[in-house]
Amino acid sequence: MKAKAKEITPQELAGIIRRHPRVVALTGAGISVESGIPDFRSAGGLWERFDPMEYAHIQAFRRHPAKVWQLLKEMDETITRARPNPAHYALAELEARGFLAGIITQNVDNLHQAAGSKRVVEYHGNALVFVCDNCRGHHPRETLDFSRSPLYCLCGGLIRPDVVFFGEAIPPAAQADAEELAQHCDLLLVIGTSGEVAPASYIPAIAKEWHAVIVEVNLEPTRLTFSLAHHFLRGSAGKLLPLALKEL
Ligand code: APR
Repeated sequence: MKAKAKEITPQELAGIIRRHPRVVALTGAGISVESGIPDFRSAGGLWERFDPMEYAHIQAFRRHPAKVWQLLKEMDETITRARPNPAHYALAELEARGFLAGIITQNVDNLHQAAGSKRVVEYHGNALVFVCDNCRGHHPRETLDFSRSPLYCLCGGLIRPDVVFFGEAIPPAAQADAEELAQHCDLLLVIGTSGEVAPASYIPAIAKEWHAVIVEVNLEPTRLTFSLAHHFLRGSAGKLLPLALKEL
């Protein structure tokens, strides 16, 4: 088993960022926990309460739409109440000051954009955008009455959030944009993800193949810490990223 990544401080992270001109961030649910959005696999996470195969798989949505809409409604309430936290703002500031080329996010909560980040690859889509599952027609969120879910398009198709359910492919444009960023960065910040879900979990390996330094920011070590991260910054992203930014 490869040795665990070297633990670093926020000050050391600032030094690493300063020494690498092409920095990219890969973010997961952990970066939004401090905005009030539970992650999936920590204690108390969403998948402790909802079986993802029953509530987040595309076949489950098509077979039992009313049941899946129970989760969709809860997620919509949580996401629309949430605001960016200091971690989101720190990444937006890093981009604005030219230290960050872009973010590949697995999150569908729109909080990076709300914090001011411009180059955001929404690898799993965006839960605030609604489309028809059949004709892909766009349905503005404000036209939808969730109390009447499941909701149907005029074409008869089910209306759904424009997110990637389990069992679905990553949108080709997002896949291509993410690979472009991963292959051309020389530092990848992996923030708040367990690295459990493919193909997002391959992104750090792609970056490393292209000689990027991998720095993980997480409350606790993950499979990435032991397999491919060079450095590990232990703690909450909302606390540590602003501390690193302060040193730049
Ligand atoms: N700061 C940093 N890391 C945190 C914080 C925090 N404040 N809070 C939690 N974490 C870490 C957890 O330790 C965990 O490693 O964030 C990670 C969250 O992991 P998951 O819940 O598995 O979320 P994620 O990796 O984004 O899941 C990937 O799985 O269910 C699918 O589509 C869903 O996009 C999601 C994908």
